[in-house]
Amino acid sequence: MKKILITGAAGFLGSHLCDRFIKEGYQVFGMDNFITGDFKNISHLADNPNFEFIDHDVTEFIDFKGDLDYILHFASPASPIDYLKIPIQTLKVGSLGTHNLLGLAKAKGARILIASTSEIYGDPLVHPQTEDYYGNVNTIGPRGVYDEAKRFQESITMAYHTFHGVETRIVRIFNTYGPRMRLNDGRVIPAFMGQALRGEDLTVFGDGSQTRSFCYVDDQVEGIYRLLLSDYSHPVNIGNPHEISIRDFAEEIIKLTGTTQKVIYKDLPVNDPMQRQPDITLAKKILGWEPKVDRAEGMKITFDYFKSLTEEELYKSEHKDFTGFIKE
Ligand SMILES: NC(=O)c1ccc[n+]([C@@H]2O[C@H](COP(=O)([O-])OP(=O)(O)OC[C@H]3O[C@@H](n4cnc5c(N)ncnc54)[C@H](O)[C@@H]3O)[C@@H](O)[C@H]2O)c1
Repeated sequence: MKKILITGAAGFLGSHLCDRFIKEGYQVFGMDNFITGDFKNISHLADNPNFEFIDHDVTEFIDFKGDLDYILHFASPASPIDYLKIPIQTLKVGSLGTHNLLGLAKAKGARILIASTSEIYGDPLVHPQTEDYYGNVNTIGPRGVYDEAKRFQESITMAYHTFHGVETRIVRIFNTYGPRMRLNDGRVIPAFMGQALRGEDLTVFGDGSQTRSFCYVDDQVEGIYRLLLSDYSHPVNIGNPHEISIRDFAEEIIKLTGTTQKVIYKDLPVNDPMQRQPDITLAKKILGWEPKVDRAEGMKITFDYFKSLTEEELYKSEHKDFTGFIKE
């Protein structure tokens, strides 16, 4: 039985990856410190003999007993509202955490895949973004802590590959959505759906002409799975190239949810990217991968998930409490 360590296991993507690798017959070790994650995302695995949970902060030394075949490093705050509140933890998990995990991969002879992001392209001057675009990032802007942590993460990963011969994979994830996203994490899909469910107006930042492209989680997981098992060690974009303006997307959500509320406009946050669209030519060529779930279908499944939350969860609008995690 192949053994895989998944960090960020109690988060949105990490928990779906745990499910997928268990389904594929792996022994899965999920690691998390719950800073932005929730045990609820993996509680269904608690009694599964092929799953073991390790409560650990990956920025601390990782003492893992036994063999490992693969590591997926997905631990990191991922939404702007999170990394603005915990900027130093965000920098540490991308740098120190990645260093620890690369060291573990080297010691165990394991292949490691790290979760990078479309954010490394910053506010892109090239559209759509191909993997050979170097990006346009403001190092000291509010998003710099996340973007630069991820850029460092890619660099140290390539250095371990070229210098130590560690088998590495780098996925550049574009906006992904689906069940288990946090309703109050500030990302546009949970934000709109939460507002619709609570009978509030939908908030659009700026004039709504900025575009985004959204990838359904099952498609993302399939891309990551194929990349891990491929022999390609350079970064690969995984995302859905179908682009939509935030204004049009708000209208789609109004139709889907049947809300009678309207769209209201607020000031655009600093360094909010105007356009994001992956060029997935490389993923198609080397992984034979492209997204299969269209937006209407994915949004319906996601909305059904948010509808299933309790009243308490729906109205818990205050942000996650990070007290207890802050020890810089
Ligand atoms: N969701 C997306 O659209 C998206 C896009 C680009 C990149 N990514 C990347 O994918 C990964 C997962 O994102 P997500 O959306 O699932 O976010 P998430 O916040 O739901 O999950 C991240 C998980 O990492 C854990 N974590 C954070 N710091 C940790 C630490 N020091 N030690 C142990 N665990 C820690 C959190 O508690 C959480 O469970 C991140 O690396 C993120 O940068 C996600």
